[in-house]
Amino acid sequence: MTKNKKDEYTPSQIVNYLNKYIIGQNEAKRAVAIALRNRWRRQQITDELKDEIMPNNIILIGPTGVGKTEIARRLAKLANAPFIKVEASKFTEVGYVGRDVESIIRDLTDIAVNMVKSEKTLEVKSKAEDIAEEKILDILIPPVKKTTTTHAGENSNDEVNNEALQNQKTREWMKEKLKNGEMDKKMIEFDTASQNAIGMQVLGPFGMDDMGINIQEIMGNLMPKKKKKRKTTIAEARNIITQEEAQKLIDMEAVQKEAIERVENSGMAFIDEIDKVAGGGKSQGPDVSREGVQRDLLPIVEGSNVNTKFGVVKTDHILFIASGAFHVSKPSDLIPELQGRFPIRVELKSLTEDDFVQILTTPENALLKQYKALLQTEDVELDFSKGSIREIAKIATEVNEQVENIGARRLHTILTTLLDEILFDVPDKLPSDVVKITAETVREKLDAIVKNRDLSKFIL
Ligand SMILES: Nc1ncnc2c1ncn2[C@@H]1O[C@H](COP(=O)(O)OP(=O)(O)OP(=O)(O)O)[C@@H](O)[C@H]1O
Ligand SMILES: [Mg+2]
Repeated sequence: MTKNKKDEYTPSQIVNYLNKYIIGQNEAKRAVAIALRNRWRRQQITDELKDEIMPNNIILIGPTGVGKTEIARRLAKLANAPFIKVEASKFTEVGYVGRDVESIIRDLTDIAVNMVKSEKTLEVKSKAEDIAEEKILDILIPPVKKTTTTHAGENSNDEVNNEALQNQKTREWMKEKLKNGEMDKKMIEFDTASQNAIGMQVLGPFGMDDMGINIQEIMGNLMPKKKKKRKTTIAEARNIITQEEAQKLIDMEAVQKEAIERVENSGMAFIDEIDKVAGGGKSQGPDVSREGVQRDLLPIVEGSNVNTKFGVVKTDHILFIASGAFHVSKPSDLIPELQGRFPIRVELKSLTEDDFVQILTTPENALLKQYKALLQTEDVELDFSKGSIREIAKIATEVNEQVENIGARRLHTILTTLLDEILFDVPDKLPSDVVKITAETVREKLDAIVKNRDLSKFIL
């Protein structure tokens, strides 16, 4: 059994990690941490019971911009798991024009294949580099051909040996030069295998791609791979040949097998806007298709086999995290079978002024840190006073209440407005190399806009 070390975070470690990026929302963090750990726990269990234990699918309920997607995204990163985010409202019932829900699994498998492939490429990289180096040496200093004449006397044999020895020495000397980059700028001509020699795009009939059949790939494999001569610098040649050799060293069949295993055991699908396919309204027309999407989702979440171009994927243990604002509809408006498949419900809270102060400053990717870094590149130090940060948070809360609550996204719009002038003036007009933002600056710049509701609708 392959055990991915990174999966072995304990729930509290997972929460600690999430805390670095997301402020508050402790309940949601706990729920996803337990779900992730339970999956790892399941993998430790003896085989028969293992298949009985289902993942803890979760519905995250909460207004827009409070961290639902962010939590799921960070979780997948931590787990090094194949992760896909889709919007439920983009799907249509099977048989209608639009994407059917099985494409979630196919896309997730694509992602996993790429993931495993790049890992494997990294593994064989140094070996591929060695081969590439030898190939370049072969071009620069062709190896001595062994003479096969039967009449060769001792003398000529010695000559060949001598030549071989000399050749070997020159190679060693050249290898040294190659290794320390002295040869990098020299030009070299070499053969590359160009994949689609004819360079034509093969398009399959409509819908074939959705069925997981890749015409391009099939045709590409049928067509002979033509060799093409190329002339580049040695540095570039080394890169190209290394790539090619790496491809040859990777066993694509094994990659696909591992990718499927990874999707089945650690894949995560984040289904956003699940509330948009819940009933709730009284309208009749679109409801039919909404319920259809839910019914189509059911077997996938419940566990079924989906055909992908890499093979059959069992969806039984993929972790599904659904999310929605549920303003109009409620989770109970989802069809009961689907509700049953998402046993864990967590509500995320609206963000407060204090949360905004934290969000602005503490996460590793905090907005203020981002802007500081941007201006740092121009040798300008952006300095936010404590009061200015409080003021920004206050205004964000105010506008969210008055106009529309878009959560932490409001901070983005406020900051772009606040910093607009500075971002434009630097580096042409430099007042000094330290730009101080105070509570005053913030009020001066934004107060008029905040007071005017119509204006703030458009600007903030
Ligand atoms: N609690 C939080 N802590 C830190 N940053 C946050 C928080 N909530 C939201 N953000 C930031 O706000 C932005 C939007 O958050 P996110 O995408 O998670 O919203 P959402 O809850 O998924 O909203 P929607 O329902 O519209 O999809 C992101 O850039 C995110 O970093
Ligand atoms: Mg979201």
